[in-house]
Amino acid sequence: MKALVVYYSLDGNTKLIADAIAEEMDCEFLRLVPKKDVPNKGVMKYFWGGKQVTLKEKPELLPYDKNLNEYDLIIIGSPVWAGSFVSVFNTFFSEVFINNKKIALFCTYMGSEGKTFINLKNKLEGNDIIGQIGFKSPANNENTEKNILEAKKWISKLVDNM
Ligand SMILES: Cc1cc2nc3c(=O)[nH]c(=O)nc-3n(C[C@H](O)[C@H](O)[C@H](O)COP(=O)(O)O)c2cc1C
Repeated sequence: MKALVVYYSLDGNTKLIADAIAEEMDCEFLRLVPKKDVPNKGVMKYFWGGKQVTLKEKPELLPYDKNLNEYDLIIIGSPVWAGSFVSVFNTFFSEVFINNKKIALFCTYMGSEGKTFINLKNKLEGNDIIGQIGFKSPANNENTEKNILEAKKWISKLVDNM
């Protein structure tokens, strides 16, 4: 079974979970990187990132070379921005056609998951969403190791049930 973790991370929380999952699955990952990212220092990141989500922008991505047709399972990870998934996925979903795939979703957030999973599922109609999980600030609290273990357990259980 071939899996791919596709994620975006500005401050490392989503990367922490993506790395844990990729390690557990011994699989490849694709980190989405916009040509021009929002600043990751100070409060302006909330303004620019929030604006991107609210206006459903499609920030241009740096080139990537993965062909999603090659994978049986796609694991998608996003931080929660303005109550939803990050805008780079608007770009990604418009560039690649994802259909008839097993998909697992995860997000990281500071307060709540908001509509992240609902909105991702709407974008991913035609696929089989086999699971979803959210992590609260996984890189920024005393539970980092616990979160890594939880992510690994979550994905292995999902794969066992596939
Ligand atoms: C632009 C922006 C908007 C955010 N909006 C929310 C939000 O609506 N709800 C929430 O719980 N956290 C929100 N956060 C916090 C992030 O979801 C959280 O810190 C996440 O773990 C960051 O992932 P990363 O470290 O991989 O970038 C926001 C962060 C940014 C930068």
